Amino acid sequence: MVRVGLVGLGFMGQQHFQIYKQMDNVEPVAVCDVIPERISEKAESIGGNIGEAEELDLSDQARYLCFDEMLANESLDLVDICTPTHLHAEMTVSALEAGNHVVCEKPMARTVTQCETMIDAAESAGKMLFIAQCIRFWPEYEVLQSLVEGGDLGDIRAARFVRKSPTPGWSSSGWLMDTELSGGALLDLHIHDVDYILSLFGMPNAVSSRAMNIVGEGEPVDHVESVYYYNDFVCSAHGGWVYPDSYPFEMGFEVLGTRALAVFSVNNDPMLQVFPFSGDPYTPDYEPGTGYENELAYFVECVEENRPPERVTPKSAKDAVRLVMAERDSIERRDKVIMG
Ligand SMILES: NC(=O)c1ccc[n+]([C@@H]2O[C@H](COP(=O)([O-])OP(=O)(O)OC[C@H]3O[C@@H](n4cnc5c(N)ncnc54)[C@H](O)[C@@H]3O)[C@@H](O)[C@H]2O)c1
Repeated sequence: MVRVGLVGLGFMGQQHFQIYKQMDNVEPVAVCDVIPERISEKAESIGGNIGEAEELDLSDQARYLCFDEMLANESLDLVDICTPTHLHAEMTVSALEAGNHVVCEKPMARTVTQCETMIDAAESAGKMLFIAQCIRFWPEYEVLQSLVEGGDLGDIRAARFVRKSPTPGWSSSGWLMDTELSGGALLDLHIHDVDYILSLFGMPNAVSSRAMNIVGEGEPVDHVESVYYYNDFVCSAHGGWVYPDSYPFEMGFEVLGTRALAVFSVNNDPMLQVFPFSGDPYTPDYEPGTGYENELAYFVECVEENRPPERVTPKSAKDAVRLVMAERDSIERRDKVIMG
C-alpha cells in the first residue's frame, strides 16, 4: 500500500484526492492546505474546467495547515504537490529531502532554473520525481501516439493542437491571473500541448510565437499562437483562456500524414476519428477516461516497483518549461527562436 500525503486541496488537489480514494493500492493518509475550510472533514468542492466536482470526505485523513508539519509528522511513501506553480520547486525539494517520492503538478516550475534544482534534489535524495503531464496519459492522445508510432498515419505532414478555455475563476487568491506566480496561459494551459508535442515529435529546430498580451507589461499572456519547425513539417499550437464563458472548454488536434488524418476534439461526436486516404473513417478502440487517473496509477506502480517513471522524466518536463520560455522570448522579440 502506497501512503500518500497531498498538499494543495484546490481544483487539482481535489481531483487527485478523489482518484486516490478509488485506488486499491493507495492510502491517502494526510492532506494539507493553508485554507482551513479546504481541510475540514467535509470540504466543499472547487471545480475547474474539466472533470467532476464533488464534496470531499476527509474524515479518515490527518489534516494539516502547515506542509512542513505534515512532512515531519507523517510516515509517507509519496508526496503529491498540487499547490500554485511558484511553490512547486520549494515544496518538491522539501518533500524529497524528507525521504519521499514526489508527484508534482505541471508545469514543473515557474523557471528552468527551478526545474534544475528539483532534478538535483531528486538525484541527491535518491527518490523519484514525476511531473503530472496528464495529456501524455489522456486516452485520445495515447491513441494518437500509437497511430503515429505505428505508422498508421504515414509520414507526418502537418499537425495542429488547440486548447481553449474561458478565463479560469477558481484559483485561490487569484494566483493564476498573476503572471509572476503562474506564467499566464502560456505556462499554465498551453504547456499541456507543448509537452505533448515534445513527447511525440521531439524538440523542434525552432519556434515562433505571437501572443495577445505581451509579457512584461503587467498582463499575463492570455492567448498564444505558436509554430514549431521540424525537418519535414511544421506543427502549430494555439490556445488561451480568454474565450467567452458560454464557450465550452476545448482541447483537440488534427494530425495529417501521408496515409490518414487524425482528428480529435472534446466537443466533437465522436470525439476522435481517423480519416484514411484509402477506406472509410473509423474510431480506434480505446478506453475513454481522463489522463488524471492514468498518470497517478502509472506513477504509483512505479513507486511500488521502485522503477523510474520513463513516460515522463524530470528532464523531459523541464524541456517543456524550456520550450515555453523560448516561446516567451519569441513573443517579446517578435522573432523566431532557434532551439539548441
Ligand atoms: N493537470 C491539469 O490539467 C491541471 C489543471 C489545473 C491546475 N493544474 C496545476 O495544479 C496546480 C494547482 O492548480 P489549481 O487549479 O488546483 O489551483 P487552486 O488555487 O485551485 O489550488 C491550490 C491550492 O493550494 C493551496 N495552497 C497555496 N499555498 C499553500 C501552502 N503554502 N501550503 C498548502 N497549501 C497551499 C491553496 O489554498 C489552494 O487550495 C497548478 O500548478 C496548476 O498549474 C493542473
